[in-house]
Order: sequence, then C-alpha cells, then structure tokens
Amino acid sequence: MKNIPPYIFAQIEERVERKKAEGVDVIDFGVGDPDLPTPKPIVDEIKKQLDDPDNHRYPSSTGERDARVAVAEWYARRFGVELNPDREVVILLGSKEGLANIARAFINPGDKVLCPDPAYPVYAQGATMLCDAQPAKFPLYAGDDFLPDIDSLPQDAKMLYLNYPNNPTGAVATPGFLKKAMKWCADTKTIMCYDAPYSEMTFDDYVAPSILEFGRQAVEFGSLSKTFNMTGYRIGYAVGDANLITGLKKIKTQIDSGAPKFIQKAMPVALGEYKGRKRPQMVQDCVDVYEARRNVMVKGLRKLGFDVKMPKGTFYLFFDVGGSEAEFSNKMLDAGVVVTPGGGYGKNGEGFVRMALTQPKERIEEALERMRKVLV
Ligand SMILES: Cc1ncc(COP(=O)(O)O)c(C=O)c1O
Repeated sequence: MKNIPPYIFAQIEERVERKKAEGVDVIDFGVGDPDLPTPKPIVDEIKKQLDDPDNHRYPSSTGERDARVAVAEWYARRFGVELNPDREVVILLGSKEGLANIARAFINPGDKVLCPDPAYPVYAQGATMLCDAQPAKFPLYAGDDFLPDIDSLPQDAKMLYLNYPNNPTGAVATPGFLKKAMKWCADTKTIMCYDAPYSEMTFDDYVAPSILEFGRQAVEFGSLSKTFNMTGYRIGYAVGDANLITGLKKIKTQIDSGAPKFIQKAMPVALGEYKGRKRPQMVQDCVDVYEARRNVMVKGLRKLGFDVKMPKGTFYLFFDVGGSEAEFSNKMLDAGVVVTPGGGYGKNGEGFVRMALTQPKERIEEALERMRKVLV
C-alpha cells in the first residue's frame, strides 16, 4: 500500500473543493464524468424495476441472466461477435472493479503485468500492485498516435492491458494494430485485457471495433458509464474467453454480491436501443454534443498556441503544455479552470495535461477566455 500513490482524482477533487470553499467559480475539466443525464427510457425502466420487490433482493454476483443475454445480443449486433451468455459474459459493478479483479484471478506476486504509460491508473496500481506484482510499463508516444510498438514488449509478462479509444490521450486503434496485438498475445501466451469503455464515444465516422473481432483469447471490459451517462449506477461487463471469465467470476463471488438487480434489469432496454452496428439516436445525441464541444475546445486551445490533436475517440483532450504540467495545472486552478496533470497517468504523461469535455460550450468558451488572460 505504501508504494501506491494516492488515486489521482481523489487528489484533484480535494484541491477543487478547497478552491470552491474559497468562493472561486471553478470550471471543472478534471474527472471524466459525463454532465449529460441518463436517457429517459433507461431511467424509466430502472424506476419500473425498482417497484418489483424481487429486485430488492441479492442479485447473482456474476450477473442476472437477462443482463448477460442483453450483453451477448448487443455484441452480436454491434460487433458481429457471438458470445455464450452463461460462459463468456460477466456483469460488473462498473468496469473498474473488473479491471482490478481480473488480476486477482490470474496474477501471482512477482508476476510482470504490461501496462501502458500514460494510462488509466487502475492497471498498474489497483490491479498489478495490489497483487504484489510488477507493472512493466511501456510507452505511448504522441508521434506514434499513442499506439505502442508491440514487437518491443517484453515477452515474459503474464498479462497485457490495452485501452482504446484511449484515456487519457483520446487515441483510437487501427484494426491492423489490434490484429497484431492479439497475435502477439497468442504467440507469447500473454493474457490480453482490453479496456473499451469508450467504444461508443467516437467521432468523424470512426467506429471502434471489439478486440474479440480479432481473436477470442482475450477478455474485454465495457461499461454503460460513458455510453449512456451512467457513471453513478456502477454497471459494466466483461466478455471473452470462458476460462478468463470463469476466473473473474470466481473472484467476484468471494468479494461482491453483484450490481443491484433493478439496474441490471435495465440493461436490455439500454443495449436494446442498438438495432445493428449503428449508434442509436440516444447515444448519437450525446456524441454530437461532445463533438461540438471538442471542436470549440480544440480550436480555442490551438489559438492559444497549443499543439492539440483532434481526438477521434473519448471526451478527452491531451496536449503538451511545453513545460511543467503541475505548474500549468496550478496556474489554471488559480484562474478557476481544472485540468488534470498528465504525470498522474505515468511518466510519459509528464509535460501534458488532460481536459475532459464535460462542460457546456458556454463554459468552455469562458474557460478559454480565463486561460487566455493568464497565459498572455
Ligand atoms: C480507461 C477507463 N477504463 C475504465 C474506466 C472505468 O469506468 P467504469 O468503472 O465507470 O465502468 C474508466 C473511467 O473513467 C476509464 O477511463
């Protein structure tokens, strides 16, 4: 525990609270938490399910069958991937716990786990280090579109975490890259853990594939958090190789008792909105909002002199601030604008900051104006 740094967002939250207590009007681009509401049909279904006393009881810790079937059917429609809902799907309390618990199931003390740098901190910390294993970090560089050089990864690791569309960089993966990564995992007998909570949050005609389209020896993590603005409900899933799913289920039966039934039972309504590969209107509406915000923010930041890429996925902008990102973040916070220092995602994030597009356009414009004042 002593080796694990404090969770980055807990630290940011604390600083933001302090600023707010000082009376500062804070515009928060820190945590990746959608500001848009959960679509009404999903909320209505949850309310309906809540009225059924059977849904007040313990759920199955590996997922209600209706929910598992809904995930399997969604994979068939959305990705063309057939899954057995009893053996190849597990329902999670949000994907975060699954990403950590999969390591508990398969990693022994001292094992190496390949983790990208920069990355969502759970892979290296909540998963690897809490298993007394070693994170073997590999770099993601802006110049390579934040896709790692698969051939240069050490071959003696037990597990590999990959995440596309990527937090914090906004990068997306090409089919060629994913195919190569799957083959490398099969050749080196490395467990592929593919983290895909932003699979539906993509722009400019980019459609994110599932890693399972390139092979079945993998576990893929997904979530309703970002797709349907449901971060607070804590509902996600893991799918893939039956042995990996069985291991994860075994851990979960020992630790948690499953996501509330009334939330699991709304999964068929949410995922059922997808009639095929194309995004349904309720998801498209949110993506349109993020896309418009992205365009305003990227344009504004470029005007301020930053070299910002137009991300094809996620609601994050990740850019080089040309110096210490900690100093930059503090300066921004003094101006009432919260950004996340890239060093919190790993050594290769140093010099960068991440901004989450979770504020309305007017607030983005206001933030850009505040930034302009302190930067010139
Ligand atoms: C890359 C990545 N993976 C997983 C998660 C966890 O999401 P949840 O637990 O809400 O499904 C997040 C949340 O921000 C994320 O950015």
